[in-house]
Amino acid sequence: MQTLPDTLCYLNGEYGPLRDAKVSVLDRGFIFGDGIYEVVPAYAGRLFRFDEHLARLNRSLTKLRIANPHSREEWLERCRTLLAALAGKGGTGDQLLYIQITRGVALRDHVFPTDVEPTVFMMCSAMKPATPEQRHAGVACITARDFRWERGDIKSISLLGNVLARQMSADKGATETIMFRNGLLTEAAASNVWVVHEGAVLGPPKSEHVLEGIRYDLIRELCEEVGIAYNLRPIAEADVLSADEVLLSSATKEILPVTSLDGAPVGHGALRGKPGPVYARLFEAYQRAKATQSI
Ligand SMILES: Cc1ncc(COP(=O)(O)O)c(C=O)c1O
Repeated sequence: MQTLPDTLCYLNGEYGPLRDAKVSVLDRGFIFGDGIYEVVPAYAGRLFRFDEHLARLNRSLTKLRIANPHSREEWLERCRTLLAALAGKGGTGDQLLYIQITRGVALRDHVFPTDVEPTVFMMCSAMKPATPEQRHAGVACITARDFRWERGDIKSISLLGNVLARQMSADKGATETIMFRNGLLTEAAASNVWVVHEGAVLGPPKSEHVLEGIRYDLIRELCEEVGIAYNLRPIAEADVLSADEVLLSSATKEILPVTSLDGAPVGHGALRGKPGPVYARLFEAYQRAKATQSI
């Protein structure tokens, strides 16, 4: 078994060492995967796009008919307590705040139980950002059919489909698995996917098949800021394979260039197999946003 860290975590109103935190085996998160989560990045102890993450947490809870147990100020205070505790243990770098809410503890029955309190769990860990080599050379991805359920819009803790998809790329030494449903791009196992055609950034429309990453709106804003066209529309597999650039986005990856797909180089001409200019401009704008939009 892995050695679990003794960093501070939060569980149902109490703070304590992560390695000692325990939930009931009848927790519906354990029995059914009946819960949702969020991952909020923090830079130098400040939370990035916190209100957008909280809004998505609320959307996910609403779709599961779980009441949000805390106010914005309560969430913020708990997040800051965990960030400060990790910083106090020498975790001075960038951090990831993980929040999980499950429906609670009840006798096993598929139907929603009444009179249960949601289980709230939060932990904080050091962020493992992309390496300088990955930023310089880009990363390799594979493609696959999107075999997950049809409610990718819910940030559900039931992640078996995503786990299996991500393992397919891990088995090939690749960074992500880019998926297609009925021939159209959805997303990757743990990231959103963007393509660049004729200088414009294109992403799949927001739908029940895709998790609306917090970087969806952020990338739109960054594109507006630096004067790059941004458009959400159905993207065929051929559009991905013929793109000038392919990008991944997520809380930890920020924006990351994909330079090889199923072993073939991405892009054209001198930039074939290399990160492109749209990536470079968005990455730079992203770094500025981190400095101005963290609280
Ligand atoms: C399936 C999936 N899609 C997209 C994303 C990107 O979301 P965000 O930008 O909010 O990190 C994630 C993040 O983990 C994810 O798991």
